[in-house]
Amino acid sequence: MNFLSTLLLSIALTLSHPTQNGKEKLYDEIYRPQFHFTPEKNWHNDPNGLVFYDNEYHMFYQYNPNGNEWGFMHWGHTVSTDLLHWQHLPIALYPDEGSTDKEKCTAFSGSAIVDENNLLQKQTGNPKTLVAFYTSQHCGQRMAYSTDKGRTWEKYEGNPIIPYDETDDARDPKVIWHEPSGKYVMVLYRKTSEDEKTKGVSFYTSSNLTDWKWESHLNGFYECPDLVKFTVTNRPDETKWVLFDGDGSYYIGNFDGRTFTPETIKMQSDWGKNYYATQTWSNIPESDGRVIQIAWMRDGKFPDMPFNGQMSFPCELSVNKFDHGYQLVRKPISEIEKLHGKHQSWEDKNVIPGLNDNKLKKVSGDCLHIIGEFDLKTCDSFGFMLRHSNKSEGTEILYSVKRGVLMVLGCTVPLPPVDNKIKLEILLDRTSIEIFANDGKTVISNCFTPTEKATDVVLYTKGGELGIDKIDVYEMNSIWKK
Ligand code: FRU
Repeated sequence: MNFLSTLLLSIALTLSHPTQNGKEKLYDEIYRPQFHFTPEKNWHNDPNGLVFYDNEYHMFYQYNPNGNEWGFMHWGHTVSTDLLHWQHLPIALYPDEGSTDKEKCTAFSGSAIVDENNLLQKQTGNPKTLVAFYTSQHCGQRMAYSTDKGRTWEKYEGNPIIPYDETDDARDPKVIWHEPSGKYVMVLYRKTSEDEKTKGVSFYTSSNLTDWKWESHLNGFYECPDLVKFTVTNRPDETKWVLFDGDGSYYIGNFDGRTFTPETIKMQSDWGKNYYATQTWSNIPESDGRVIQIAWMRDGKFPDMPFNGQMSFPCELSVNKFDHGYQLVRKPISEIEKLHGKHQSWEDKNVIPGLNDNKLKKVSGDCLHIIGEFDLKTCDSFGFMLRHSNKSEGTEILYSVKRGVLMVLGCTVPLPPVDNKIKLEILLDRTSIEIFANDGKTVISNCFTPTEKATDVVLYTKGGELGIDKIDVYEMNSIWKK
């Protein structure tokens, strides 16, 4: 590369990168998440079309290009090679029929897959076709495709693939490949009659991606379903299917390609107030083998920000068999370590009641990854104060030994100790606190809007001694800074 082209390239990179060229402030606003995805500006909600192809994780999302409130839904688009740093791409899907209405024919939620066998016959060169399935609100379930790795999108000429039915309120198609039957399966939220009790998930199958046959329906769901096959972590010979509802709650059971049979009660996957419209990535290579889920952190407040909404931190899901039965486990993806900055740790320490024994007094920050294992010894309760200062108490995370519950931001969650120990992994960002307790068995995701620029952290115990077996605290680097 000669001098001139190097110069031109570096100018182009500088201009295209949002944090350079004097725009640092844009991604460094007081309520801008530093390691959770947000679009540069405007409203977003559900993650859509999560698909991995050619070393890129695609994430589309419900997006209003016109403003900071819901409506006029398009599919925003972003890609990442590590699920941490996101490159914004142009809007992928626009409303249908040239609609300028707030709702009618706008591009509601859905999913995407790689057309491995060129079933749509759209492939033009080497890149496989990416196919997106979405709800055109009140205009049927529709399909769009991209032959250039997601950079540009065409609507399928035979749309809708499932016609609009004014009684069923159908939306949010999630399409998966079902190996044993050699068919694609679509799970779709809808109701089968006027009776609200029939709100649920319908299962459809297709051999060619364009013709879809209704197979069965399961009541008791609302919006954004997902269906995922798992190998049980501690029983590698066993396979289970998990059917997710929009709020991440789920059944574990069996799926034969046409009907889902629950084998558990419906279980809660997140105990916070803000985890919604969950979706898992399609086409993760077998060599990786992970199930990776992300969610919209609904109802966050971002005063005076150019954007409105944030995604959860991507997590790896697994199914484990415990004494009480099968259960989902959720942990932040291991890539998180790449964002680790300054590290401090303590081992085998005793904490006594009173603020003078704060072992974390040297810790400071609004973006932290805290991983701790605590011995409950004789304490009645212990906890953290995050975003604390002399002037402001901050936000408390409290574990009550007597009640066996974890409390944060108005949420109270049962959390039995294991061998008198509690493990807490905490992701603190500027507007969210996600807590993964006891190795991801219990998860609480919450948005918050701290009022002060307070950055101290307090670890306290009440009523008796607390043991710190080990605690690691990492300052988190921003994904928006080079
Ligand atoms: C869930 C949801 C979906 C719908 C989309 C519209 O948050 O209501 O059911 O497709 O949002 O933005």
